[in-house]
Amino acid sequence: DASGAPVRDLQGVRVLVSAGGTREEIDPVRYIANHSSGKQGWALAHAALARGAQVTLVAANVELETPPGAERVDVRSAAELAAAVAEQREQADVLVMAAAVADFTPTTRSAAKIKKVDGQDAPAIPLTRTPDVLRGSVLARNEDPGTAPRLIVGFAAETGSEHESSLELARQKARRKGADLLVFNDLTAGVFGADSNSVRILDAAGADVGEVTGSKLHVAHGVLDQVVALLGDVPL
Ligand code: CTP
Ligand code: CA
Repeated sequence: DASGAPVRDLQGVRVLVSAGGTREEIDPVRYIANHSSGKQGWALAHAALARGAQVTLVAANVELETPPGAERVDVRSAAELAAAVAEQREQADVLVMAAAVADFTPTTRSAAKIKKVDGQDAPAIPLTRTPDVLRGSVLARNEDPGTAPRLIVGFAAETGSEHESSLELARQKARRKGADLLVFNDLTAGVFGADSNSVRILDAAGADVGEVTGSKLHVAHGVLDQVVALLGDVPL
């Protein structure tokens, strides 16, 4: 606005943000991880705080300073993240799943360091699916529409394939996940760890509701603009 003061349009709204990337342990010294830096989730927390929200971060292996005023719960694995979000979401009006959650985890974690043995084949590491936290949160809310959080936002990173564009995959994912908003990041450009971002915001039907390009903080505000618009529609 003209005063230059941030618009406090999320005053008192409780926003839960998952950020970072999970790590799945193979043995005491090794894990399966991903490239997520946590910067977009952090930007969402900063933006929500500036707009008056009460922010809780579920942080998966993020080495960034906690935004002043935010609550922080640190987790490592997908299982820990799922448990923390399930607990925290009961007190949240808005859930934003910005974390990169492992889809697969080693079926068993070796208690001892896995050794290479001359003359033996390399070991295979059997993997098991992890729970889909975003989908689970949407299902819980849809079963009982009074259940918190009122608004659920997912992220989708897609590269596209020979057969389908990244955008078409994102639209399909939006419909499959059923989140109120899905923030689509086109990975064809390569954004992990970068300070800026370009996203398209889709609704639960996979239709466009907005587009934002700029710093991760700018993108965060663009996502929150849509959250504010939708909160106006959702009965308290
Ligand atoms: N997500 C989640 N739990 C998982 C995996 C993903 O909550 N076990 C969330 C992410 O935080 C993100 C959204 O789901 O908000 C989409 O993640 P993405 O990896 O793009 O989608 P997947 O459904 O895992 O599909 P795939 O990786 O096969 O494309
Ligand atoms: Ca995934």
